Amino acid sequence: MTESSDKDQRRLYGDLAWTWPIVSAPETYVEESEESARLIREQSQIEAKTLLNMGCGGGHNDWTLKKHFRLTGADISEDMLALARRRNPEVTYHVGDMRTLRLGKTFDAVVIFDSIDYMLTEDDLRAAFETAFLHVKPGGVFLTYEEIRPETYAQNRTQHQVGREGDVEIVFIENYYDPDPSDTTIECTFVYLIRRGGKLEIETDRHVCGLFPTETWMTLLREVGFKVTELPGKTPEEATTFICLKPPAAA
Ligand SMILES: C[S@@+](CC[C@H](N)C(=O)[O-])C[C@H]1O[C@@H](n2cnc3c(N)ncnc32)[C@H](O)[C@@H]1O
Repeated sequence: MTESSDKDQRRLYGDLAWTWPIVSAPETYVEESEESARLIREQSQIEAKTLLNMGCGGGHNDWTLKKHFRLTGADISEDMLALARRRNPEVTYHVGDMRTLRLGKTFDAVVIFDSIDYMLTEDDLRAAFETAFLHVKPGGVFLTYEEIRPETYAQNRTQHQVGREGDVEIVFIENYYDPDPSDTTIECTFVYLIRRGGKLEIETDRHVCGLFPTETWMTLLREVGFKVTELPGKTPEEATTFICLKPPAAA
């Protein structure tokens, strides 16, 4: 196959962005988003009315979060933001990299969900946490989670979803592989079996994602100034959530 280059392609956030609502339906984000809204409200020391979602993608989390907060989203991909704007016309969206975004205003709370997976080095992770710290008000909460964890990482984990819309049916296959366990990245290879009216097209896509010990997350979050509570998942496979309070005295 010609697309076996080492390059991060991320076609899912480019020419294949149209597949996102089909292979990852907004309904599947409701439970996670409701729980995040609940945790923010519970842990915040200020009333949480405004929220910034960095790496908001197609706005599937936002679809639920907007019921609870006055919402702003940011993402590095114009194609994903186009989907988000269509789904959530009432939300304000900005193009921006979570490592460097500077909106010049603060929010009662900040979240980074699955998009944090694209931080590949400790410097990336720290930069994203710094952006969150700068954008959250003192007494407010930053919530993020560690989905891929070295502690439970399984080489060659492979899973698939099937989605349909009209006469389009997509089987979306994901494979996770770590070619070099001594570094902080893994390969995520996606294969799309797209059938339009039964006629098959096969697309491939390669993403590179970060993999860091939980201790690294805790250390970096504390170093940027947060007071951190770690909330392990209910099972070892579930993500660890980090609820990060910006101390009320911090500027
Ligand atoms: C899996 S999608 C997020 C989906 C999202 N949870 C939703 O509700 O639709 C991951 C997103 O991370 C974004 N992303 C990757 N690197 C980024 C960065 N450095 N800054 C901001 N967004 C980034 C991608 O463009 C993509 O939209």
